[in-house]
Amino acid sequence: MSPIFDADEAGLAAAAAALARGALVAIPTETVYGLGVDARQAKAVAALYAAKQRPRFNPLIAHVANAEAARREGVFTPAAQALAEAFWPGPMTLVVPSRPESQICDLARAGLPSLALRVPAHSIALALLTRCGFPVAAPSANRSGRISPTSAAHVLQDFPSGLAGILDGGPCAIGLESTIVRCDDQGATLLRPGGLKRASIEAVIGPLLLAGAEESVQAPGQLASHYAPRAAVRLNALSAAAGEVLLGFGAIDGDLNLSPSGDLAEAAAKLFQSLRVLDARGVGIIAVAPIPEIGLGEAIMDRLRRAAAPRLPISS
Ligand code: TXA
Ligand code: MG
Repeated sequence: MSPIFDADEAGLAAAAAALARGALVAIPTETVYGLGVDARQAKAVAALYAAKQRPRFNPLIAHVANAEAARREGVFTPAAQALAEAFWPGPMTLVVPSRPESQICDLARAGLPSLALRVPAHSIALALLTRCGFPVAAPSANRSGRISPTSAAHVLQDFPSGLAGILDGGPCAIGLESTIVRCDDQGATLLRPGGLKRASIEAVIGPLLLAGAEESVQAPGQLASHYAPRAAVRLNALSAAAGEVLLGFGAIDGDLNLSPSGDLAEAAAKLFQSLRVLDARGVGIIAVAPIPEIGLGEAIMDRLRRAAAPRLPISS
């Protein structure tokens, strides 16, 4: 069984040692748990893709302890600098041109000339990254196409074996993946809405460009049917039909309610956990109450639309 490492000195030392020898360790962050591997070691990265059953063209986010370490790997435009200063550590990933001297292996970038970097706002993750001293590539610690994990127990469900360890940092405070912004000489482009509100970013650097449809191949855990429970998902439901369970929001109460008070941050934190709980009941359809697409609602509805999309085979 994949062992659980406590978030103490011994656990951090075991996690860092396992990563350094090229093994897979699940790590907590404030967004979701990541499946971490030393981003410099191509063989280890290959093992990660295999464990996740992730298509190889989907590049990984490299996690580092601070902005200075990030700037050693990638080229930061003035907009990227401003965002890093404003929001790191935090739920934001920057995609920037790779430096020739970057330590991150080609396979972790899926051969792209750019790379994705993030400094997570989680004390255990930062302690681990500082101890490692090398970039840790980590996609969300779910099998490809499945719901992202927001607790160590969720990681164990998808990876009962095969990991050197799962570093237990408790439940994730934000519960949605990071917002991804690409910064290059074209400007700043929103590639994925996430745990940092678009409005917060635009308050710092002005309006973001929107990624074109053709970029969904390059950008993306953006495969249409991502974040999918086993059950089908029906959106904007006001009540449950026969054979459905209802995931409520605000005044529309259901079998579970993402936030009875209509708080979008609470809803984000509970989204993946709630989908898992309802999915475990073995129902055919999860109906979801309407969620306003403002603030974090943009990222919540992005994930729900992917969960509701027609399913691709799991390996695609
Ligand atoms: O909150 C998060 O972002 C979590 C935690 C663990 O940090 N990670 C996460 O990773 O969600 P993942 O691999 O599930 O999603 C990363 C996304 C993918 O959609 C990938 O295609 C995109 O980042 N990405 C990575 N490198 C890229 C690049 N060079 N250009 C465009 N997109 C990139
Ligand atoms: Mg993912």
